[in-house]
Amino acid sequence: MSKKTPQEIIEQTENVLVKTYNLQPVVMDHGKGCYSYDSAGKKYLDFAAGIAVASLGHAHPKIVKTITSQTKRLMACQASFATAERLEAAQILVDNGCFDLVYFSNSGTESVEAALKCARKWAYDKKGKNCHEIIAFKNAFHGRTYGSASVTSKRETQPFFAPYLDGVHFAEFNNPLSVESLINDNTAAIIVEPVQGEGGLVPANPFFLKDLRRMCDKHNICLRFDEIQAGMGRLGTFYAYQSFETDDGAIEPDIACLAKGMGSGFPVGAMVAKREFGEALSLGTHGTTYGGNPLSCAVAATVTKEILSDGFLDHVNKISEHLVDGLRKIQCSSNKITDIRGKGLMIGVDTEFDIKVLLKKLQDNGFMATQAGKSTLRLTPPLIVSLEEADEALAIIDKTLKELS
Ligand SMILES: Cc1ncc(COP(=O)(O)O)c(C=O)c1O
Repeated sequence: MSKKTPQEIIEQTENVLVKTYNLQPVVMDHGKGCYSYDSAGKKYLDFAAGIAVASLGHAHPKIVKTITSQTKRLMACQASFATAERLEAAQILVDNGCFDLVYFSNSGTESVEAALKCARKWAYDKKGKNCHEIIAFKNAFHGRTYGSASVTSKRETQPFFAPYLDGVHFAEFNNPLSVESLINDNTAAIIVEPVQGEGGLVPANPFFLKDLRRMCDKHNICLRFDEIQAGMGRLGTFYAYQSFETDDGAIEPDIACLAKGMGSGFPVGAMVAKREFGEALSLGTHGTTYGGNPLSCAVAATVTKEILSDGFLDHVNKISEHLVDGLRKIQCSSNKITDIRGKGLMIGVDTEFDIKVLLKKLQDNGFMATQAGKSTLRLTPPLIVSLEEADEALAIIDKTLKELS
């Protein structure tokens, strides 16, 4: 497509882009299934998938077909008109979980913003104007716009953006007592990731989530799950909350935030809410130009139908088990892996090696993954990854750890 050399593309990009990311030394060109290819033709087994985004892999024929036909029909239309595409996507989200109402967005952070406004408005209406406090968690990540950054613990290290939203308190993840000590009459909502992604692939204990539900019921507080990374099939259930059962069944949040895998690469997100909570966002209190457009909703419907198709989620669970078993074998034989954790196809691996060095060496060996937390190797492959591709991933990880030893 481009006549420029990879070096020119990288240098010129650095010259025109705000430097919020360090660029890798290769230029990505295209992808197919679970593989990505750089502009020199090198093939990578893509276990990053845009950080848990390309749930159906790259260039999935059903997505290509949906985008092609929908762009020819209708891409843009004011939110005040109903469309069959938006209804279909919303109905799938409602029919397959505990939620009644949907608000579409274009990204994860926008889903979180909608949920923040929704919960605060609900609490204002229900409990009075002083009820605006939010409990979030240490090592949580919810996004980079002001509201979501305010409930992200990294705000402590970025004082230059202050003032953030006030009334936000950070509790210890998986520690119900720490949450209880922060609850008061002005607590409006608790926001939690069922698996802390950026924080290092740390799953919530189901009994911790159950305790949060109990506290929210007792004190009339809105419970919000941020399922942006963990939802939409990644944990082996459609919604992430459905993966956390105790004897009393699944622990249902009042609101969940979605994005990433929901569009498999196409920017689309949503806030889904139980009726009482969703209804708090009344006419004129929130909105978006692009959110819920026919194109993004057509893609979301295609992706979610595929995730819900027969055997799809069983496959995710089977591959997850296979990968974790394989990683444990490598751990036993190499002694270089210090921890393996996560859930579904959201797997974290701690090793003795510097994460940057490990990622670079994996990349040299034709494998893409990402960093989470301070030093965790994050594996978030497309959900369609095959057993053979999982074996190939294990072989590359094993070989790379041996080369670094
Ligand atoms: C749990 C979680 N919440 C929110 C976000 C923000 O999503 P986005 O980057 O689409 O705004 C992310 C992104 O990594 C995430 O992992």
